Amino acid sequence: MPLAFDHHTLGQRVLFGTGRAAAHVAAEVRRVGARSVMVIAGTSERGQADQVTAGIDVAVHYDDVVQHVPADTAAKARQVAAEHDVDLVISVGGGSTTGLAKAVALTTGLPILAVPTTYAGSEATAVWGLTENARKTTGTDDRVLPFTVVYDAELTLSLPVDLSVASGLNALAHCVDSLWAPRADPINAAMAIEGIRTLATGLPAVVGDPRDVEAREQVLYGAYLSAVAFASAGAGLHHKICHVLGGAYNLPHAPTHAVVLPHVLAFNAAAVPDVTARVAQALGGTDAAEALNRLYARLGAPTALKDLGLEEESLDEATDLVLAVVPPSNPRPVTRSDLRELLRSAWAGSTPRGQEEQVRREEELTATVLASFRNAPDERLKTVMSSLTAHLHAFIREVRLTEDEWNAGIGFLTDVGHITDAKRQEFILLSDVLGASMQTITVNNEAYGDATEATVFGPFFVEDSPRVELGGDIAGDASGEPCWVDGTVTDADRVPVPGVRIEVWEADADGFYDVQYGDDRVAGRAHLFTDDDGAYRFWCLTPTPYPIPHDGPVGQLLAATGRSPMRASHLHFMVTAPGQRPLVTHIFVRGDELLDSDTVFGVRPSLVKDFTHQPPGTPTPDGRDLGTRPWSRARFDIVLAPAVRPGPQSGAAGPL
Ligand code: BEZ
Ligand code: FE
Repeated sequence: MPLAFDHHTLGQRVLFGTGRAAAHVAAEVRRVGARSVMVIAGTSERGQADQVTAGIDVAVHYDDVVQHVPADTAAKARQVAAEHDVDLVISVGGGSTTGLAKAVALTTGLPILAVPTTYAGSEATAVWGLTENARKTTGTDDRVLPFTVVYDAELTLSLPVDLSVASGLNALAHCVDSLWAPRADPINAAMAIEGIRTLATGLPAVVGDPRDVEAREQVLYGAYLSAVAFASAGAGLHHKICHVLGGAYNLPHAPTHAVVLPHVLAFNAAAVPDVTARVAQALGGTDAAEALNRLYARLGAPTALKDLGLEEESLDEATDLVLAVVPPSNPRPVTRSDLRELLRSAWAGSTPRGQEEQVRREEELTATVLASFRNAPDERLKTVMSSLTAHLHAFIREVRLTEDEWNAGIGFLTDVGHITDAKRQEFILLSDVLGASMQTITVNNEAYGDATEATVFGPFFVEDSPRVELGGDIAGDASGEPCWVDGTVTDADRVPVPGVRIEVWEADADGFYDVQYGDDRVAGRAHLFTDDDGAYRFWCLTPTPYPIPHDGPVGQLLAATGRSPMRASHLHFMVTAPGQRPLVTHIFVRGDELLDSDTVFGVRPSLVKDFTHQPPGTPTPDGRDLGTRPWSRARFDIVLAPAVRPGPQSGAAGPL
């Protein structure tokens, strides 16, 4: 696949090191030469703020941190910054603290040094948010992107386990959702996959031991990657759903993300198998949805929106609200009923079925059906039916056949049956246009030396055709240009075979066989026998192209699939001789435009012959007077394979 994308990397320094926050902060303050530093940290984070700013002079502390960054709080913070002639803002805290620092930067352009103490990830994006009159406004502005982030996992040790899990899963959701978000590209996908990997290892370890600082590092690193991936790729279906639920029903942010993620993943999984395979691998499993379910079970993660305060009555309205903002980039089309079902199962907390479970159920059914043939008394029938069933099931599963499609297929076969009678064999036509007739012939007529190749029988052979003598005319009253055909019939050792019965039949110049006229005429068909030298000769009509009967369901199938019903011009032969493999074949006309598109796939290059044009007046081989009519001639030497293949030692082996 060619690579083409437009990726924007945000310019930001990341200093990562456990127990090194104070040293990193001091070095950064020195590096940028800040003279008047404002530290933003909520009252509960003051201890941590003092710890990380121990090595620098702080001009002012600001601790009025409120969730969702109310506009008046932002205004107050800006005023304090102005009063102290601040030239650097250091934020120490979670999403609300970073958010307040961003609000200050948005209007003042002050640089931010962010020291996160949670897994919110806001420090790695240029997204800001402000709340005024209960309305949240968000936007993106490069000025609010912290120029440096100092990560120190020790600062997250005090984050309670349930909050760590919810916020870690929020990060995981950002990673997964970014893989099908509007600006997904290979770079942000690489970050997202790495984020999934680290979160999936770190979170269970944090739950196992909340003081495990290496596990905290993993989660912190994963949270950073998730924010970068999300900021770059944009919001996918998952994020849109959570945004609507959070905004319209005031559901808690991180737990809502945690609950919704498995449902969106299960919904999209089959539409993006490559992506889900990478997610599965990053989660340490073979099936993404199953691996996520296992992770949730280990983490004791929230699983139901009803537990987060969403009322069942709101599901219809929520469906409509989300439907209006579904990103066009979503890999699977989202219908209203799909979405309603997704939200209902997220509300109820049902476990989204993973691929693995689905595959297991499908395979189990196939195995049950195959087992039902176990006691078939006829071994060959058992083999054929078992294989047919296995392939039919595989087909249904591969194309994910819908019930409507299956019913349409049944309806089609019913129509094929209804049009079939003693004269019209629509099932053979169906087998022919699907190449099944030709494949059966190919399987059963293995190449034998340079024996003449077989091709389709077609539906127009009739028993008891009239006999013509050598050199006679098989055309009868059928219209068309006369054609002389001659040749020899030999066995595989090139020994001429006398007395071979050759059946010949063909359509007239209007493209019809005699049996298609609905009267009793017999024309364009006959049989004859080779002479003592294995030679034969007869007059017929120069073959012309014609359509197979296409006024029935098979014709509709051809039309629906953009295929032509035309057969390349041909003359049918059936050659039988004792001890020789019966041969059903045609010869085709070299130069015919339809040779490459014969609708029943009957053309073999070895069967294409020169039908040389003979202008009017050209003497005929047997002195027949054709007056002013042009004619043609073709030679067809037939080599028959033996009816049994000579064995390696004994000279005779099994039947061919
Ligand atoms: C034919 O050549 O006669 C024929 C073969 C397959 C389908 C229909 C017609
Ligand atoms: Fe034919």
